[in-house]
Amino acid sequence: MEDVLILGIESSCDETACSVVKNGREVLSDVIASQADFHEQYGGVVPELASRMHVDSIYPTIEKALSDADVTLDDISAIAVTYGPGLVGALLVGLSAAKGLSAASGKPLVGVNHLKGHIAANYLCFPELQPPFLCLCVSGGNTMIVKVSGYTDMEVLGRTRDDAAGEAIDKIARVIGLGYPGGPKMDKAGQGGDINAYTFPKTHMKDTLDFSFSGLKTAALNMINQNRQKGIDIDLADFAASYQHAIATVLLTNTIKASEDTGIKKICLAGGVSANSFLRKAFDEEAGKRGLKLYYPSLKLCTDNGSMIASAGYFEYINGTRHSLDLNAKPSLELN
Ligand code: KG4
Repeated sequence: MEDVLILGIESSCDETACSVVKNGREVLSDVIASQADFHEQYGGVVPELASRMHVDSIYPTIEKALSDADVTLDDISAIAVTYGPGLVGALLVGLSAAKGLSAASGKPLVGVNHLKGHIAANYLCFPELQPPFLCLCVSGGNTMIVKVSGYTDMEVLGRTRDDAAGEAIDKIARVIGLGYPGGPKMDKAGQGGDINAYTFPKTHMKDTLDFSFSGLKTAALNMINQNRQKGIDIDLADFAASYQHAIATVLLTNTIKASEDTGIKKICLAGGVSANSFLRKAFDEEAGKRGLKLYYPSLKLCTDNGSMIASAGYFEYINGTRHSLDLNAKPSLELN
């Protein structure tokens, strides 16, 4: 069978990314222009500025991805692009570029759900991985447990009812002065800390696999404020370790419940927060005890990148998905 090369374009938040991936599994190039350092001065992503920076970097990023892979647009089978969920202005930049390339080259356009991309990052790291499996998708904007029955066939079993896990980490990281992006900084701050030093409420709802992190976040805020009022210094390492451990425990408990309910013993982690060392450790330990097969992407492929979009795009492409040039950005695109 002839090789299928997919050009994957991602611009849903603050990374302009483009990759070429062969047959959904082999990364030929992976180029990322990150805006994180720029947004740091504002304490978070400024959507309008993100869109403008995507405009500046989109074509150089695409050109570099093609040249790093040593291919031209002629060699590409299809152009895959994130069309949601994400920041609408940011999405539109990648989508418009992809539509322009598709119109000019005649190559098919395949719109990709960003979350399916995060899940597909696991296919790039584990060539043997095949559905069915459960995937805990944890990023800055989403937290959900997904039953992946086939490469394009997915069902959400549980989701957050308020904050995403990444949001809960980022917000508290900001309050304790770690700055943006909070996730990696909180992870680092917690190294060597005692996970039992501070106690946080761990919300588990009855008869559902849904999550809630707002209570945990509010408890952390109250703890910080009360200690400040009393002039007591919080131990940063212990606090960061306990807080991340509490979040990991909530995520783990529901994922294990989903595995018991479905009988699926293969579990993947995906999304930016799957880079978190406390989460990985909690899952590693429990998977070992229960004989579950656990997968999580390399650190580089946990956060936003073009390769995961090209991989998810490949499976959509061979499944027959084609989009027309009137495909629009969908900031709240659902997985199902
Ligand atoms: O998947 P992603 O790059 O973008 C979205 O699609 O949202 O995820 C970004 C999120 C941010 O909340 C960031 O703080 C978090 O992933 N993150 C981490 C770590 N690395 C990134 N959170 C905890 N620990 C990390 N090591």
